[in-house]
Amino acid sequence: MQQYAIRGGNPLVGEVEIGGAKNAALPILAASVMTDETVYIENVPDVRDTNVLLAAMDNIGVMVKRTGRHEVTLNASQIHNLVVDNDNIKKIRASYYLIGAMLAKYKHAEVALPGGCDIGSRAIDQHIKGFRALGAEVTIEHGLIKTKAERLVGSHIYMDLVSVGATINVMMAATLAEGTTIIENSAKEPHVVDLANFLNSMGANIKGAGTDVIRIKGVEKLHGTEYAIIPDQIEAGTFMFAAAITKGDVTVKNVIPKHLESITAKLLEIGCEVKEADDCVRVVASKPLHHTHVKTLPYPGFPTDMQPQITVALALSQGTSIVTESIFENRFRYVDELTRMGASIKVEGTTAIIEGVSRYTGASISAPDLRAGAALVMAALAAEGYSMVDDIKYIERGYEDFHLKLQSLGAQIELVETERDFQKFKLKTG
Ligand code: UD1
Repeated sequence: MQQYAIRGGNPLVGEVEIGGAKNAALPILAASVMTDETVYIENVPDVRDTNVLLAAMDNIGVMVKRTGRHEVTLNASQIHNLVVDNDNIKKIRASYYLIGAMLAKYKHAEVALPGGCDIGSRAIDQHIKGFRALGAEVTIEHGLIKTKAERLVGSHIYMDLVSVGATINVMMAATLAEGTTIIENSAKEPHVVDLANFLNSMGANIKGAGTDVIRIKGVEKLHGTEYAIIPDQIEAGTFMFAAAITKGDVTVKNVIPKHLESITAKLLEIGCEVKEADDCVRVVASKPLHHTHVKTLPYPGFPTDMQPQITVALALSQGTSIVTESIFENRFRYVDELTRMGASIKVEGTTAIIEGVSRYTGASISAPDLRAGAALVMAALAAEGYSMVDDIKYIERGYEDFHLKLQSLGAQIELVETERDFQKFKLKTG
C-alpha cells in the first residue's frame, strides 16, 4: 500500500499551479447527462472522485472521452440504465448529483446512497424535501435513493439549513421542470455559481446563484456547451496554509482571489503577509505565527474544508486559539494524530482549544479523511525528523499530484510502498 515518506523542516518556497475545483467538477460532470448533445469540459481535475464519477457515467452508457488529462467530452444520448450502483460509486459523495441530473431529464433515477469522507452524519433530507416539492416520489430501498416523477413542476423551496449538495441537486432538477422554482436559503459557494453558469451555458435560466435566493425558470431542454471549471478554492487554500505552517513563501497561481477572502483574512490575522494579483496569491510567513479564533461557516465564511489546515497552523502558533466546527460534527478525528506529533489540543464537542507549541516531531500517522489527510502531511512537512503518512487514498480523492506539487516547492516527500523504500528515502534525505 502506498504511503508518503516525509522529512520535515524545509520551508516551502516557490510557485504552484492550482487545478480545477473538484467540488465544481463533480456536479458539472453529472449535469452533462441533462442534454443529448455533446458537452466539452476543461480544467477537470484528475483526482479519484472525478474519475470514479466518470467511470460510473460510462457504465450507464454516457460516452466519456478524455481528450487530455484535464479535458473531457461527454455525450449522454445513449444512456441505457437509470440505476447507478456499484462499489466505487458508494464511496463518493457526489454520486448523488446524478439523481438531480437524471431526474431532471428522465424523470427517473436510482442511485446508491452516498458515501464520502466520514466527517459527520451527512443527512440528505433537504435533497429529498426539494425533489418532493418538485413533484417527485422519493424512496430509499436496498441502499438506493429512488426518485420518479410523472412531471416535475416548479415550486418554492425553503432549505432548513444551508446545504451545498441539496442546493445543487434541487437546482439541477428544477432546470428542466415546468414553471419557476425559488430556492431560499441556498448555498452560495463558488461551485454552486459555477454549476449555474454551466447550466445557463446549456440554455438553462437560473438567476441569483451566489446569493441566498436562486430563481430557476424551467426550460424544455438543454443543448451542448464548452465550459472551463473554476480553480479549486480548497486546493489553493491548502497550499496557502502550507506556506504558513512551514514558514515558507508560496505563490499559488491560477486562482480567483475573491474566493479565497476568508482564508486570506485568517492568514493575515496570524501574522502572514498575503499579496494578491489578478490570478495569483503569494503567502509569506517570515515571522512567528500568533493565535486566533475561527468558526467554520457556509461561504463566504471560513470553509469547513480548511478547518484541519488552519488547526495545524494554529497548533504551531503562539498563544491559545479556538476552532469551532459548525458544519460537520465529526471533523476533529485527526487531532489524535496531530497530538502524537506534539500538538496540544483539547477537543470538546465541536470546539478545539489549542495551546500553541513551538514544533512538531515526525511520527507514523494515518490520514482519516481527505482534508485532514492533507493537513497532516503539512504538519509532517513542518515537523522535525521523519514521518510516514498512511491511507493516502483519501488525499488522492481530491488533490492531484499532491506530493509532486509539494516536491516542486522544495518538500522532501516521496511515495513509498515498503519499509525498504522508506529506509532508502531516509538514506537519500539524511
Ligand atoms: C459539500 C462538499 C464538502 C464540504 C461541504 C460544506 C462536495 C462534493 N462536498 O458537501 O467538501 O465540506 O459541502 O462546504 O461538494 N445536511 C443536512 N441535510 C441535507 C444536506 C446537508 O442536514 O439534506 C447537513 C450536513 O449533514 C452538514 C451540513 O448540512 O452538516 C452541510 O452539508 P452540505 O453543505 O450539504 O455538504 P455536502 O454537499 O455534503
